[in-house]
Amino acid sequence: MTPLSLPQIRVLFTPAEFLQLHGQDLSCTTCVVFDVLRATSTLLEALYQGAKGIRPAGTIEEALALKQSNPHCLLAGEREGLRITAAQTGGIDFDLGNSPLEFTASVVADREIIMTTTNGTRALSACRGAAEILAASFSNIGALAGYLTLNLPSKLLLICSGTLENASFEDALGAGALVDRLWPLYGNPVKARTDDSAAIARSLFQNHQSSLLDSAGLARNGRRLLALPQLAPDIPLCMDLDRLNLVARLDSDGVLRVIDP
Ligand code: MLT
Repeated sequence: MTPLSLPQIRVLFTPAEFLQLHGQDLSCTTCVVFDVLRATSTLLEALYQGAKGIRPAGTIEEALALKQSNPHCLLAGEREGLRITAAQTGGIDFDLGNSPLEFTASVVADREIIMTTTNGTRALSACRGAAEILAASFSNIGALAGYLTLNLPSKLLLICSGTLENASFEDALGAGALVDRLWPLYGNPVKARTDDSAAIARSLFQNHQSSLLDSAGLARNGRRLLALPQLAPDIPLCMDLDRLNLVARLDSDGVLRVIDP
């Protein structure tokens, strides 16, 4: 039996699991949130394109309330994959949807963005109170692995945002990519407590790493996006490994910002 004080790694695959985090003591836990298709891919892209920060909001109402107190912010987000419109808010059209391709430097540089999505921002909210909350996607796996290797959290929880109330293939795959990079630190049973969930995610990634783009077609959300001509081009960007050298943390003031790895 390994001692409890060893570093631990675990993956939560479904919203039912991450919703249970509310009210738990996460003060010694580092949470890494994945919504590969597309919320965290988009948040990271926005920061890469020069956005000053992102304020994730769990609901449309919360986003509108944040906009009232922060009128300088852009409003972004989706429901059923599409940009939120005046019909859903009682009169306000959102400035942006949830497509990483929309978040160009000319639109987002030096701006703060309030963002609400169906699953991704809900997963970020569920981690409130954690020692550290980091945003992850395929784009920043290498940068995150470097940061976590330097900091070696004693409790590392990888959270898959999922699709609606279900597990999602692409988030499990993304979590697996990070577990794979961290395996020398967390995969040795003498040096760490590795939950089977982490080994499952790693094994999934190892099976699909040579065809990440094709594997989007195995995901319910991937198939939905691929069927929409205006959203299909998001997929190659979201499934592209190690494109961005950045680490983003949700600070205690509720703003996600780039930190120096
Ligand atoms: C989400 O947060 O649920 C997703 O990012 C939905 C989407 O693909 O727009």
